[in-house]
Amino acid sequence: MVSELGFGCASWWGKPAFDERTAVGLVHEAIERGVTLFDTGASYSAGEAEPRLGRALRGHDTSGLVIATKAGTFHAGRGRIGRDMRPAAIVASAERSLRHLGVEALGLLQLHGPAIGELDEAMFEALAGLKARGLVRAVGLNSFDPEVVEHAIGLPGIDVVMVDYNVLRPEREALIARAAAAGKGVLAGMPLAMGHTRPLLSRLRGPQDLWYVARALAKHRDELARGRRFRFLHRLPGMTGAQAALAYVLANPHVRAAGFGANRPQHLRENLAAADLALPPEVMTAIHAAQGAT
Ligand SMILES: NC(=O)c1ccc[n+]([C@@H]2O[C@H](COP(=O)([O-])OP(=O)(O)OC[C@H]3O[C@@H](n4cnc5c(N)ncnc54)[C@H](OP(=O)(O)O)[C@@H]3O)[C@@H](O)[C@H]2O)c1
Repeated sequence: MVSELGFGCASWWGKPAFDERTAVGLVHEAIERGVTLFDTGASYSAGEAEPRLGRALRGHDTSGLVIATKAGTFHAGRGRIGRDMRPAAIVASAERSLRHLGVEALGLLQLHGPAIGELDEAMFEALAGLKARGLVRAVGLNSFDPEVVEHAIGLPGIDVVMVDYNVLRPEREALIARAAAAGKGVLAGMPLAMGHTRPLLSRLRGPQDLWYVARALAKHRDELARGRRFRFLHRLPGMTGAQAALAYVLANPHVRAAGFGANRPQHLRENLAAADLALPPEVMTAIHAAQGAT
């Protein structure tokens, strides 16, 4: 059981260049406001996200929280992400994550982008071993490859799948429904569509925004182009574009939770308020029309 909205401890949030007090304060405020899911990864923020989350959690009662992390990728230096999906590496990564996070057990350990062939007997023996030792409570995978998620739906050793689902990704809906019908917990990764529905320049309000804009230009030009059709989300009465994006994802009854990133306290508050917002039917219709046109 987790809160509908989880806090993503990734990207700029984990970088040493981002003020530690603000980053830690965001986690504390999220906990105070009822967030119980914190999602991070061994390779996130050049390996800095997990230790930072660990510092934020120090001294807190974490028994009611689900601390989710990912294994199979690691920071390989100079901003590069390495990959090691061998079962022994997954076990070692989980053990390292526990030390970084300062918790006795991981609420969820997700394989970070495994190939179908890597989801073999040896992998599930290793994952079952982590569960048997009480180090991991649930096992999942995070993949943006629908074939991998489809395969995982049939695997009894997988409890949870994290899928890239947002207004730009309606094609994930059938997959999500099948995963939920098979009893998998479905987490939506990137529910804000990384902000790609907003005009790029309107995001530039401070130096940290440059990092996200540079990432968008380097890696997500397709989404930026498709996001143009959803600009109307930022002109709705009664809710912001980010809230509309989150409300869309949470309106899917098969999604258990959605994890967003935020580096400004007002964004955290705004996003958490989306859990109580329903999209008016005409907005849903407009979203479907924009999706059909992409
Ligand atoms: N990015 C990926 O490739 C990826 C992959 C797998 C999973 N995920 C999951 O998604 C989580 C978050 O990912 P992420 O940090 O890369 O990106 P994200 O949540 O998609 O986006 C964070 C960006 O959105 C902005 N934002 C947040 N709330 C806003 C609001 N209310 N109004 C306007 N802007 C707002 C943030 O701005 P401020 O800095 O101003 O708050 C920041 O620029 C991760 O922890 C993970 O769980 C992401």
